Amino acid sequence: MSMKIAAENSPEFPMKTKVNSVVIVREYNEERDKLGVEEIERRCETGQRGKPTLVTDLMGDPVCRVRHFPSHIALVAEYGEEKEIVGVIRGCVKTVTTGGSNFVKLAYLLGLRVSPTHRRLGIGTKLVQKLEEWCKQQGAEYSYMATDCGNEASINLFTRKCSYTKFRTPTMLVQPVHAHYKPVGAGISIVRLPRKSAETIYRRVFANSEFFPKDIDLILSSNLNLGTFMAVPKKFVPRWDPKTGILPPSFAILSVWNTKEVFKLQLKGVSALKYAFCVGSRLLDAWMPWLRLPSFPDVFRQFGVYFLYGLHMEGKHASLLMKSLCAFAHNMARDDGECGALVAEVGAKDPVRETIPHWRKFSWAEDLWCIKKIGAVDEDRNERCPPSDWMKSRSSTSVIFVDPRDI
Ligand SMILES: CC(C)(COP(=O)(O)OP(=O)(O)OC[C@H]1O[C@@H](n2cnc3c(N)ncnc32)[C@H](O)[C@@H]1OP(=O)(O)O)[C@@H](O)C(=O)NCCC(=O)NCCS
Repeated sequence: MSMKIAAENSPEFPMKTKVNSVVIVREYNEERDKLGVEEIERRCETGQRGKPTLVTDLMGDPVCRVRHFPSHIALVAEYGEEKEIVGVIRGCVKTVTTGGSNFVKLAYLLGLRVSPTHRRLGIGTKLVQKLEEWCKQQGAEYSYMATDCGNEASINLFTRKCSYTKFRTPTMLVQPVHAHYKPVGAGISIVRLPRKSAETIYRRVFANSEFFPKDIDLILSSNLNLGTFMAVPKKFVPRWDPKTGILPPSFAILSVWNTKEVFKLQLKGVSALKYAFCVGSRLLDAWMPWLRLPSFPDVFRQFGVYFLYGLHMEGKHASLLMKSLCAFAHNMARDDGECGALVAEVGAKDPVRETIPHWRKFSWAEDLWCIKKIGAVDEDRNERCPPSDWMKSRSSTSVIFVDPRDI
């Protein structure tokens, strides 16, 4: 159930900007604001002339990136007498682990955009502040955001103006979907887990990680979740029943999230030569799959992405099992027909990082997550010793669970 502020009761926050014009920050209203927000998204995506740009199509739903959280909201900034929509931000609140089995209520702020013609007027800052107020009303104790390490404007806004602290730097790994299938290792079985078994296993193996969501059951039962899969040495399969909750001595596990129902991507601004090279590599790979060319998918038309999450491995030959599992996920994406890439995001020192196939050129070495304490921590929530201060305590784990709804 959505915990959004009802549109008619939504508070309005007049403010004076540096140019002395009135800006109102209020809750997004689909009927009134959809076109205005789509226009901002479009204007924010205009890349540098002559450079390739990855364009996101939110498929007519500007709230799509937070819709899958039970508690979510979008705010817009309205400018001047014309009430032009010049800014937007989305947010949600969820309960997650902080490492060591403790839970906190955490706000996630995302999709902040200010129209290029209205920047440096304090509008972005105001949107963040108003969203934080809403998150506090929902009981959030911490708030975090994720950005590209090179996004100076966003980093300055959050760290200098809004007192966020640089916190974690997970790695985004991107693998294109090739025209050929990838081989799954001999002697390895891929088993699809029943939802309940997947939940039990995840709650156990990610108990001490950071950012593991308490409502993992909701994620696993979402129609965007294409399944949870485990790679197990074939010799264990006859003796192992996933429903018992007992784990085999060696295994790798991951789940596949279908983001193409939420947004689509498209690469624009590529030179004719690069375009021809990419199309050529694809054709060759399709005609001669035995060459196993690392062909380039057709990313010049809109394409979808499968997000791999909940990646964990244990036991002997675990990395081989994880590689096979990733190959299996790749083949799922290849069969989909509309999927151009597989993406995974993991902690910078997570052992699975080295085993996930990816193209370095398209992977972000460091995504930056910034965090801020925005409310008092509810100490009764944690049976064990409550988290003293998540931001100050040194991370006890290298494992970050990246919620597929955050992507
Ligand atoms: C990032 C963004 C939202 C900032 O919006 P804005 O309304 O211009 O931000 P503000 O006016 O509130 O700026 C607040 C502070 O952020 C920093 N900042 C903003 N733009 C900056 C820039 N281009 N370079 C460096 N610092 C910048 C400054 O510290 C600024 O304070 P100052 O103006 O007193 O120096 C806007 O540039 C944008 O929409 N960018 C494209 C989308 C994006 O990157 N979103 C963030 C995703 S997390």
